[in-house]
Amino acid sequence: MIGDIITAVRFERVSESDQKAFYELRRSAIRAGCARHYDASLLEAWTDESSDSEFQRPLPEHFYFARIGDLNVACGVLDIGTGRIDAMFVSPAYLGRGVGKSMLKHLIRSAKEHGVEELSLHATLNAVEFYRSQGFRGDEVGTYQSPRGVTVSCVPMRMYFDQPLQGLSQR
Ligand SMILES: CC(C)(COP(=O)(O)OP(=O)(O)OC[C@H]1O[C@@H](n2cnc3c(N)ncnc32)[C@H](O)[C@@H]1OP(=O)(O)O)[C@@H](O)C(=O)NCCC(=O)NCCS
Repeated sequence: MIGDIITAVRFERVSESDQKAFYELRRSAIRAGCARHYDASLLEAWTDESSDSEFQRPLPEHFYFARIGDLNVACGVLDIGTGRIDAMFVSPAYLGRGVGKSMLKHLIRSAKEHGVEELSLHATLNAVEFYRSQGFRGDEVGTYQSPRGVTVSCVPMRMYFDQPLQGLSQR
């Protein structure tokens, strides 16, 4: 049951030794989750193992795995300085089971705790309704130039907080 899955999830910071695990999760999530919205050749270029780059160092402070037991079931990153959310990926076996929402809520909570007032992201076409259901807004399809040189159709989306969490009690 979804409730059982979500209570089992814990969030752990991604470390430098997790590079391989991160790229495996990214690759499998994109290939499974984005397949109906993008060409196979684009998916291949976007996830090609030989193009996996070195982690930037130091790693972002808010770069997390969602873990169940010793499995990485999702990941996501928040840049506190810009409010940018990136690298949201859910493991294929856990797609559509509430894990992405749980990861996103964790990032949103972190953003509010740090006084971030606005979040932004580039939603892949398959993920637009997911982000919309979580309060992000944006309709216009644009393009995202990935660091691999792949141009991907995406929808820029934003979320504004009326009341940052800083100084308020958490509920
Ligand atoms: C997009 C992604 C992160 C969403 O995570 P998920 O675990 O599959 O989604 P969840 O099960 O947590 O869904 C949460 C909510 O979004 C809704 N939702 C998810 N996908 C949806 C879709 N395609 N259309 C409509 N609603 C959707 C769910 O119904 C659910 O609604 P609820 O809050 O009312 O229960 C995940 O599917 C994924 O990793 N996809 C492949 C990689 C990718 O596209 N990453 C995003 C890059 S920007």
